[in-house]
Amino acid sequence: MSDPRHFLDLDKLEAGALRDILARGNELKSAWTTGDRPKPFDGKTLVMIFEKPSTRTRVSFQVGMQQLGGMVVVMGEQESQLGRGETPADTARVLSRYADAIMIRTDDPAKLDDLAAYATVPVINGLTDASHPCQIMADIMTYEEHRGSIEGRVVTWSGDGNNVAKSWIHAAVRLGFTLRLACPGSLQPSEDVLNWAADHGGDIHQIDHAEEAVDGADLVVTDTWVSMGDENPEMRRQILMPFQVDAKLMAGAKDDALFMHCLPAHRGEEVTDEVMDGPRSVVWDEAENRLHAQKGILSWCLE
Ligand code: CP
Ligand code: NVA
Repeated sequence: MSDPRHFLDLDKLEAGALRDILARGNELKSAWTTGDRPKPFDGKTLVMIFEKPSTRTRVSFQVGMQQLGGMVVVMGEQESQLGRGETPADTARVLSRYADAIMIRTDDPAKLDDLAAYATVPVINGLTDASHPCQIMADIMTYEEHRGSIEGRVVTWSGDGNNVAKSWIHAAVRLGFTLRLACPGSLQPSEDVLNWAADHGGDIHQIDHAEEAVDGADLVVTDTWVSMGDENPEMRRQILMPFQVDAKLMAGAKDDALFMHCLPAHRGEEVTDEVMDGPRSVVWDEAENRLHAQKGILSWCLE
């Protein structure tokens, strides 16, 4: 039996695989919107494990599976034996006997890796404290729908160097765009991902001031200042305030620059209403594209 095709992190996949996933997602999006209703997942089941809250990931995976003819089982941490200490390895062995794929949202990336090491079906990363690859696939799809290929473009991340930022770094290396990171000194992305990017020829720049980082950018991205599980919210808000994306900051980017946020947003913190609701914001398309990009991911894993 061949190894399952896991979707764990963007650095683990080559550009060709990422491009295949996006192409399949786009194909399934257009099939859905034109009224064609293919059912490639007829008889297939996805188990989803959520050890953290979710709106978009949970609903978009469930709706996506169902639209393509599949079924979903959803488990919260406290409803499963994982919450009482059953190991990810044993959980993976059992779930692989019932389901065709497993998606997990958890804190520790080691749990995801354990699950993948012992599952005989594909495992999908639905966010860990370290990364959020499904989100960035939807973001790339959204950018390219609006502006064409992201290759060679300049993307600016302003805010916390968190899990979403890490997946942006992976994507910049794999898909060939420039990424400028404007993060406070104490909230930089981890050294391991920056070293990986440098070793792989990434065009990644750490810039102290958000105004300098957005100069001439094609896309400005941010995320919450207090991720799920983060401590010291007040301290974070204080040191991240200079990185807020407001209309003045957006004015420094290119005239046709887009704004993205994975959501949920904390309006008035990392982004102002004016930017969220303004003409450059594509956050609702971005949220919708979770559905379509994940159909591409599921398809790549399952078909
Ligand atoms: N962006 C995102 O993953 O949203 P949820 O936490 O609602 O799933
Ligand atoms: N960085 C955020 C993303 C939420 C989708 C978090 O981990 O809470």
